Order: sequence, then structure tokens, then C-alpha cells
Amino acid sequence: MSMDGVLRLYFGESNLPTPEYIKEAAIRAMHDGFTFYTENAGLPSTRRALADHYRAMQSVELDPASEIIVTASGVQALNLGIRAVLDPGDDALVLTPAWPNGSSSIMMANANVLQIAHPLCGQRYAIDFAALEAAVTPRTRMLLYTSPSNPLGWVATDAEQQGLLDFARRHNLWLIADEVYDRLYYAGSRLGEPVPSILRKATRDDAMIVIHSFSKSYCMTGWRVGWLIGRRDLIAKATQLIEFVVSHAPTFGQKAGEAALTRGEDELGRMLERLKQNRDLCLEALRGLPGVTVPKPDGAFYLFPRLAGLTDSFGFCRDLLMETRVGLAPGVAFGEGGEGSFRICYAAEMSILEPAMERLTRFLRAGV
Ligand SMILES: Cc1ncc(COP(=O)(O)O)c(C=O)c1O
Repeated sequence: MSMDGVLRLYFGESNLPTPEYIKEAAIRAMHDGFTFYTENAGLPSTRRALADHYRAMQSVELDPASEIIVTASGVQALNLGIRAVLDPGDDALVLTPAWPNGSSSIMMANANVLQIAHPLCGQRYAIDFAALEAAVTPRTRMLLYTSPSNPLGWVATDAEQQGLLDFARRHNLWLIADEVYDRLYYAGSRLGEPVPSILRKATRDDAMIVIHSFSKSYCMTGWRVGWLIGRRDLIAKATQLIEFVVSHAPTFGQKAGEAALTRGEDELGRMLERLKQNRDLCLEALRGLPGVTVPKPDGAFYLFPRLAGLTDSFGFCRDLLMETRVGLAPGVAFGEGGEGSFRICYAAEMSILEPAMERLTRFLRAGV
């Protein structure tokens, strides 16, 4: 990180600043006195805005008073949800390759992580339901999956969502869905259409938790505001637990989040156009390179190419950095099934992305 002149495609964020209308909403909120403590579960107005958002975007009815809690980021929602369902010694299933913070939170709860890798079937990642069945123990309490996925860009199909829900119901498990990238979706009937949430299939009585965040859709990574949706008993527990961690999400940040939910569509649409172009540029550059398999991702802002014969993705990324000053994330960082691949975050602007892809493809060609 201290090296000069690096084209950085390793972080999971775009280098676009937070839109002005969101910053203005936060400043206005501070002037309006939103600088005090709020309810542990977040401002009632923010929870109402979230419920309205789910009604409009997903046709899902949520009770803002009992089924939603505003959190201090998506990672805090993930941590809170996991800690609310696991006891020490429990087993937890995680679909990987995945952002490692879920597995780390499980370990922080003194529980055991069982990673089940997404198999690459032709040009698409899938779910190994047989491996999931075989991994269940009497202590298994939960299954965590991420769709759209970081790092794969994979999006669960309707049938895969149903399969996960049936599996969780059959084994009496909590199903935790990380949906923080649901607005970054390129395979809908139009750009801007969200990935259908698992909440459309699950009932409000299912043991279901959805993790979400303002970070990715609204360029608000530094603000630390997210949310968690869950069954009423889980939300009651999480509302107690958050008191002892951060008490609640930042007050003016919650007001800024409301502005994002109600006024964010135009800016989001422009960002999606740009991200789709970036994705296609990277796909074009990588396709046809010898030894490279690159599934077309339908969501998020990552590509996860697999390189034939690669057994040390960390070494590969280090050599790439040293020789070309391009920074990528090694696949091994994302757990089971990640080795042999590397992650490209294509949310950077073209002036960074184009030369980075040019250097990467030259490096890959030279390595063959
Ligand atoms: C899959 C996934 N979930 C959750 C998060 C958390 O985002 P934040 O804590 O910024 O809200 C991230 C961030 O990279 C992520 O990739």
C-alpha cells in the first residue's frame, strides 16, 4: 500500500466520491440536530424508509418496528447476525470463495466454520448441494451465502435460492444472505433492477437474516451505515446486542442513508452504466488469453479469473505488483475454492482500469 504509482484494483470500492445530495443531507441533518443518540435499532424514519424501499424494489412487506435494524455498516450487520445465532462450539456453513469477514465473525463467536466451495461448472459458478448435505452436523446452526458474490460476481438463480431455503428449512438452520451488492446487477430486464431478494421467497416466520449496506450502491464506504433484516426474535436479540457494541449507527449517517434511498436512483443508474462498460472491457481483455477462464459475472463489481496451473495466487499477485505496478487481490484470500484465481475490482475509473488491464494481459501473455 505504500508503493508509489500502483494501479489499485484490489479494494472493494469505486473511487467515485459520495454523491453531493447525500453529503448535503448529512450536513442538513447535523444542522437540524441529528447529533444525539437514537434508538438502538436506528431512527424510526430510517427504518420506515427501508421498509418503503423494500416494498418498492422487492414487493416485500416489512414491519419497520420489529423486522429491521439499522447497523453501523454491513460488516457490523453480519457480525451482529452471526453472534445472535451462534453459541460457542456450534458449526456454521459458509459458501466460498467469499469475503472473509463472515468466516472471521463465526470464529470470533468461538464457532466452527465449514467452507463449501462453489464449483465452477463450465462458465458459471454453482452450489454443491450434495457437499452441503454431507457437511451438516448435529451442531450446525447456520448457512451464510453472498449473492451477488464478492469475489465471484455470481448471482444465485431462482432455483438456487429455493434450494438454499429448502435446505435451511429441512435442517432447521438460520439462513444468512449477504445481499449488499443487490443493486449492482447487469442481468435484469433493465439496469437498475435489483437482484430479487431471498425475502421474496422466505416468509417472515422463516429463520432468515439479510445483511445490507449503503456502502456499495451509494459510494458510502466510509460512512459505516448498513442494515439487517430478520425474524422478529432475531431482531429483538440483535437490538439488545448492538447496545454493547456501538449502541446504534451514526445519527446523521442514518439521515444521509434516507436521502440515498429516496433520491439515489439517477446517480445509481449512471454508476451502473459505467460499471457495466468496465466489466465488458475487462472481460474482452481477458477472454481468449491462454489458460484463463473468466466466468461472466452478473452482479457486484468483481471478476474472478482462474488461471490454469496457478497454485500460488499470492505469489502471482506479488510478482504482478512488483513487475507491473498493478495491484489485485489473490484468490486464496477468499477461502476454499479461491486458490488458482485472482480478483479484479473493476469499479475504478477508465483512466486506471485501461492501463491496468493492458499491463495485466501483457504479464499473463509473457507468463505462458
Ligand atoms: C460481501 C460483502 N458483504 C459486506 C460488506 C460490508 O460492507 P460495509 O461494511 O462497508 O457496509 C462487504 C464489503 O466489502 C462485502 O464485500
